[in-house]
Amino acid sequence: MSDRPRLLPLLGATRHGSRDAMTCLYRCGNACDHPVPNTSDNPYLGEIVDAEVSRRGVVRAGAVGALVLGFGGATVGALAGAGAASAAPANPVVPEAAGFGRPAGGVGSGALTFRPIPPNKLDTLVVPNGYDHSVVIRWGDPVVPGAPEFDLHAQSAAKQAKQFGYNNDFVGVLPLDKRGRRALLVVNHEYTNEDLMFPGFTSLDALTVEQVKVSMAAHGMSVVELERVDGTGQWRPVEGGRRPYNRRVTALATKFELTGPAAGSASLRTAADPKGRTVVGTLNNCAGGVTPWGTVLSGEENFNQYFVGGDTAPEELKPKLARYGINITERYPNGNRKWDRADERFDLAKHPNEANRFGWVVEIDPFDPESRPRKHTALGRFKHEGANVIVARSGHVVAYMGDDERFDYLYKFVSDKKFMAGDSWVARKHNLTLLESGTLYVAQLEGNSAAEIDGSGKLPADGAFNGRGRWIKLVSGNRSYVDGMTAADVLTFTRLAGDKVGATKMDRPEDVEPSRLTGKVYLALTNNTDRGKAGKAPADEANPRNLNKHGQILELVEDGNNNAAETFAWSLPIVCGDPTDPSTHFAGYDRTKVSPISCPDNVAFDATGNLWISTDGNALGSNDGLFATAVEGPERGHLKQFLTVPLGAEACGPFITDDNRSVFVAVQHPGELTGATVENPVSTWPDGDHAKPGVVVTWRLDGGPIGS
Ligand code: FEO
Ligand code: CA
Ligand code: CA
Repeated sequence: MSDRPRLLPLLGATRHGSRDAMTCLYRCGNACDHPVPNTSDNPYLGEIVDAEVSRRGVVRAGAVGALVLGFGGATVGALAGAGAASAAPANPVVPEAAGFGRPAGGVGSGALTFRPIPPNKLDTLVVPNGYDHSVVIRWGDPVVPGAPEFDLHAQSAAKQAKQFGYNNDFVGVLPLDKRGRRALLVVNHEYTNEDLMFPGFTSLDALTVEQVKVSMAAHGMSVVELERVDGTGQWRPVEGGRRPYNRRVTALATKFELTGPAAGSASLRTAADPKGRTVVGTLNNCAGGVTPWGTVLSGEENFNQYFVGGDTAPEELKPKLARYGINITERYPNGNRKWDRADERFDLAKHPNEANRFGWVVEIDPFDPESRPRKHTALGRFKHEGANVIVARSGHVVAYMGDDERFDYLYKFVSDKKFMAGDSWVARKHNLTLLESGTLYVAQLEGNSAAEIDGSGKLPADGAFNGRGRWIKLVSGNRSYVDGMTAADVLTFTRLAGDKVGATKMDRPEDVEPSRLTGKVYLALTNNTDRGKAGKAPADEANPRNLNKHGQILELVEDGNNNAAETFAWSLPIVCGDPTDPSTHFAGYDRTKVSPISCPDNVAFDATGNLWISTDGNALGSNDGLFATAVEGPERGHLKQFLTVPLGAEACGPFITDDNRSVFVAVQHPGELTGATVENPVSTWPDGDHAKPGVVVTWRLDGGPIGS
């Protein structure tokens, strides 16, 4: 290890919460410094909910037990005739029921007995006693066979396009064989930090065009074949051999097909793509999900920050650009990467529709490396945190999605077609079309103790922040349900559609994921320090604290336990913060026994249904980390901290394998603190030199199941 560098004068300069100013600049384009894009006058329409509920005679969701099982996202694997690494992936893969195999026992059977780790500010990854961890892959490691070794001082776009990208976020691990020895790791690379990538960095303006292209190639996704280490919960990349699945998807060169009702529409056509059906690249891919048919969904989030020239875009487009956070008053917004220097399509003065081609949910088939990834317009366009799919009782597939911006909305998509079970080629081909047509809804929530909500976080007399809600239909196939907007308009400018129908303004909806064991849905609302400010929406029961620094977790139970239902019940099992803070809530669990948590971002489940939560921007002073709690039974709300990530980093992913033996976490932006550089890093994780984002796996030393 090299000597720990001295901390720099600007270390810890923060913009919101405790997230460093450097992260705000690079990750979100200083989103929190900009005016809130949602300026709609969009109050609750609780009376509509009540009328709707009584008219339909809706029945509350029944007891836990109506399970959606057997084709879990992480249980799709080996392919016909191509299970071995050396086989050509000529045939499409077929779902495989076995996957990694599930431990015995039902929901809640996996007690979380690990000893929680304390909050800390260490420049290392900290796990509980009895656990170990290793770096699976880091920025610059070879991905595509033949990729050159990483050389920080001789980097090029061509090299980067074959190497692991920067700032890993979403992590999915899909079994590749029935014995659980091989798997495909699929990772998002959300954004780049040029200060920490280029030796001698002085300013974004001073980057060469080639360096801009390096950054473009460091965005996107990676697919990497893994092998299990010696029968343990540890995994490492396969080295050597053909590794036919290994693949990089980049912002620089990968072509995407637009699907669904808005594909080909006028707003998506450009000079380079007059048909409006093919987009080059994907941007700011944040969270995502593994589908029951073995593909990966990835959310294009803060895409707005990559564009320039909004000031001279066509006047009629400007309000729409502004609603998505694109600056319409300056050619070069402060901190802009100026990618127009490398590719003029990022200049809205020349190509105003190009921005409309980002902000979608992307689907990639990791088992078919030749396949063209798709952007699904049927799932709407916003700052997609991610998307997670469950198969409803009816067989339709339902995708839950958050729009990560202060006062933006929660959405869901219900497919027209039904999921086809089984492991046939026909079934998989069918399932690959499920996200191309369906109905898009936005959520409206109503509290049942509304009069008691004063913005302090004081728990209502009924003992819960809870209530009911409904899914407002925006568009179904080619039919729009929003006045004055066509179906293509609704799908391309979905935020404006949500404004018109009175969707509920939430505290930054991040990752939202249904439990495959119960069908209940969990949403991370990360924070909203603008809540309750003058001229902004005040606290409500689902977003119960003004100036909300720490965020909350929302649990949504669809009526009839039917994920395709149009009404639901909701509650807040966790209102985050230091448990000594009276405005926190942990489902009624003894607060002296829970770990402090702040700014929940990503959610995941282990094989027995425990909820795992990772954080972004801990406003309590600790490094970010990963937490777990039961959501059923007497341990509901007993939140415990499982790990922390190094200094300046954010805990992303996470992903727990179906055999409950491995927890994957993406360590994003280690050392991203103002003033840090390659030469003078604040973090030296993971190799003791300069900071590198990387994916980590954690496992139990005795080989037992994680958490218990
Ligand atoms: Fe990329 Fe919403 O976090
Ligand atoms: Ca209540
Ligand atoms: Ca996130």
